[in-house]
Amino acid sequence: MGRPFLELSDRTPVCFGDTRQIYEVSDYPGSLVRTIRPERVDAFGHLVGKNGMKRLRMAGCYQGFARELAEYLIQSRRLHTQPGFLLPFAHIYGLVQTDMGTGLVMEKIVGEDGELAPTIGHLHAEGRLTDKHQAALEAMFERCRGLHIVLSDIHANNIVYTEERSGRPECVSVDGFGERVFIPIHRWFASVNRRKINRIARDAAASLRRPPAQERWGRH
Ligand SMILES: Nc1ncnc2c1ncn2[C@@H]1O[C@H](COP(=O)(O)OP(=O)(O)OP(=O)(O)O)[C@@H](O)[C@H]1O
Ligand SMILES: [Mg+2]
Repeated sequence: MGRPFLELSDRTPVCFGDTRQIYEVSDYPGSLVRTIRPERVDAFGHLVGKNGMKRLRMAGCYQGFARELAEYLIQSRRLHTQPGFLLPFAHIYGLVQTDMGTGLVMEKIVGEDGELAPTIGHLHAEGRLTDKHQAALEAMFERCRGLHIVLSDIHANNIVYTEERSGRPECVSVDGFGERVFIPIHRWFASVNRRKINRIARDAAASLRRPPAQERWGRH
């Protein structure tokens, strides 16, 4: 048995984001492997177009992985007496080397057909968003306030809706959690974090009343 090294380059991703591509791999059932899209990475391992101070971030194109991992570990510490805890964001299972760079192995959130759960953005775009989705979204924000989870880059396609994960309606953040700013004030102060989540929730409610658009919530 050799070291785990995944060959992904001849597989087709199940989904593409702006920066990442998502693979389903039979070696990791119930999980997804996320890698950074190669065309978004420069020769130094930074994201193309990130200049100045942003290049001081030592993890470069993997900074997002570091942010999500850190948030997962912070929650693991807080909840260490509660084995089996369930967070309102996709759980992180680990890192794996692949021929597409380091991959983040994470919980796959599924819909009733077993496929990737729909995002709030997709439901909105298809005119399928109902009160139960909006209530689940507000419940997710409320759990994030209560657990002091930092949300930094939230938009409608970073949140998915499922009833399969816990057997009840639920919104789960699949991207955009974890502290983004250099001085981690949201991590340090629950009150500052709550205000930020209030802004995100307010923007979300307003944005979901308008025609679908790619808007980041809580940025102002
Ligand atoms: N753990 C997951 N479970 C289910 N679906 C997921 C998961 N992670 C990602 N997805 C799907 O893949 C899409 C893209 O993933 P992701 O948000 O990580 O990419 P991204 O490049 O960061 O996107 P963007 O920069 O546009 O936010 C998501 O919008 C979602 O539909
Ligand atoms: Mg995303």
